Amino acid sequence: MDIPRITLNNGVSIPQLGLGVFQTRQGEETVNAVREALQAGYRHIDTAMIYRNEESVGEGIRQSGIDRRDVFVTTKLWNDDIRAGATKEACYRSMDRLGVDYLDLYLIHWPAQGWERCWEQMAQLYAEHRVRAIGVCNFQRHHLESLLAMSGMRPAVNQIESSPQFANQRLIDFSNAKRIDVEAYSPLGGTGGNLLADPRLAVIGRQYGKSPAQIVIRWHVQRGVIVLPKSTHAERIRQNFDVFDFKLSDEHMRQIAAMETGKRNSADPDHFDF
Ligand code: A2P
Repeated sequence: MDIPRITLNNGVSIPQLGLGVFQTRQGEETVNAVREALQAGYRHIDTAMIYRNEESVGEGIRQSGIDRRDVFVTTKLWNDDIRAGATKEACYRSMDRLGVDYLDLYLIHWPAQGWERCWEQMAQLYAEHRVRAIGVCNFQRHHLESLLAMSGMRPAVNQIESSPQFANQRLIDFSNAKRIDVEAYSPLGGTGGNLLADPRLAVIGRQYGKSPAQIVIRWHVQRGVIVLPKSTHAERIRQNFDVFDFKLSDEHMRQIAAMETGKRNSADPDHFDF
């Protein structure tokens, strides 16, 4: 089954579904998750320096037997390096750990102090062809407005928390209006969340022969966001990919959107302390 792809604002094509590896431990756990995902058909892995598993992501890609050039690899610039203005060094170190000589997407992880200077350094990495696209995470509307006002380089993506419980729809609409694609993290409500236990998802799932997780992933796909579900279990990794053979009705799309609680699972980008 081919994964739908989205063309980013610089012409680079990204698979709409990727494997997230936040809190997936370095070593066998990450190696196996990445290898299983790629063998199941995923072609997009989303990691970060601070997940401390980049070496294992690289090892999983090599063990999968899939050509590196066929895998969309994202990693992120951590806050300490943002505050230090050490973008290029941090990027090269991430590439070394991953064992790759270019990144598909490099992201500012949080709008930490000094991100403006880092954005210009990221633009240089892009101009030097070390990264195929650059973008940001956890940028609120006001951060995006500042960035677009100061730089001629438009982010390809804004990766933000989004799930049926915290859709973040206004920020998605604003990003899209600026031709910035949105990537959804914690798309299943995050580790330790209660979204997937909501009986409304089980009811909808029975009508399509799909699990609650598959229903939620499909909801994201139909909203047009890039979705990054995380799992360390091979069976769930495969299940989460099996969402391209059915379509949710408009009524079910609305019912899922009605699960909004307005509560974040992750930190508030305007008040984070790390
Ligand atoms: P696990 O990694 O043990 O499989 P998010 O992507 O929103 O961050 O959510 C990740 C959480 O959802 C993890 O706790 C993960 O557990 C769990 N999860 C991922 N896929 C499924 C699935 N298909 N069914 C149930 N839980 C899942």
